[in-house]
Amino acid sequence: MSAGQAGAPAWVPKASAIAREAGARLRTFFVQGVETEYKGDVDLVTVADRTSEKLIRERLAEAFPEHGVFGEEGTRDRLEGEFRWYVDPLDGTTNFAHGFPHFCVSLGLEKRTPGQTADQDGTLVAAVIYDPLLDELFAAERGRGATLNGRPMRVSRTPELAESLVATGFPSSKRHESPNVHFYQEFTLRSHGVRRAGSAALDLAYVAAGRMEAFWEFNLNPWDTAAGILLVEEAGGQVTGFAGQPFKLDSRETLASNGLIHAELVGLFKQMFAGRDLEPIPTPQEFAARRAERAAG
Ligand code: IPD
Ligand code: CA
Ligand code: CA
Repeated sequence: MSAGQAGAPAWVPKASAIAREAGARLRTFFVQGVETEYKGDVDLVTVADRTSEKLIRERLAEAFPEHGVFGEEGTRDRLEGEFRWYVDPLDGTTNFAHGFPHFCVSLGLEKRTPGQTADQDGTLVAAVIYDPLLDELFAAERGRGATLNGRPMRVSRTPELAESLVATGFPSSKRHESPNVHFYQEFTLRSHGVRRAGSAALDLAYVAAGRMEAFWEFNLNPWDTAAGILLVEEAGGQVTGFAGQPFKLDSRETLASNGLIHAELVGLFKQMFAGRDLEPIPTPQEFAARRAERAAG
């Protein structure tokens, strides 16, 4: 998937340069500090979100004049075309506004076939997520694997939830309607812990990089997920809805994992949605016995 590889489209190299430039702009704003504005009661936006989207929009138009752009801060350019970039110019705005150093730029490219209706997904073909504070660039191209700063990355090999670190997020609008706090509790009790770090795109990138085993969230948007989904899939993981159904970009459910614990997660969601008694959490003795059995076999 490197720039020079024969036949490889230039999507990732060009998008990487754009994400790095936008990320550098975000870093400057972050160091200076910016005023926070409210989109909703707790939904924040800053000059950094808008400046980053403007820059990305211009650079994508220069690099790929035929491609469409669908951005969180309102860009809707050339959406009738074959290719469409989903752009989150700053994922982790709440972190950014508070000076909490965890945010990124996310660019995901979808290839659509002529005649597809608006509610039908195309195929995600390229992804770039850039964390400007750690200078980490996660990238993938369909069929060519995923990389972190140019090195191949893979999901983790952890085979069960009880030994997993997982992540989730909470919406910044209609929080009172979110059932997620119940899932948060249950997953916390059944894993090494649940991180709620405030950037869905980085959560997905971290699953792809094997830093966490799984991530779930309700009500994300295509600009949050497009790039991260392809990263996870190309790194060997799996992405579905909570019932294991195929993931769709406008889906209200995102469940990504290393693949190995996916069935267990889907089973837990199923039990919780059905309001059934959940399987009891293993005692420390049962857990130790299971680990010993696996080590032996
Ligand atoms: C948010 C972040 C957060 C997630 C929210 C998103 P934004 O995106 O990804 O982790 O929990 O659902 O809206 O507003 O910072 O781009
Ligand atoms: Ca976002
Ligand atoms: Ca955003």
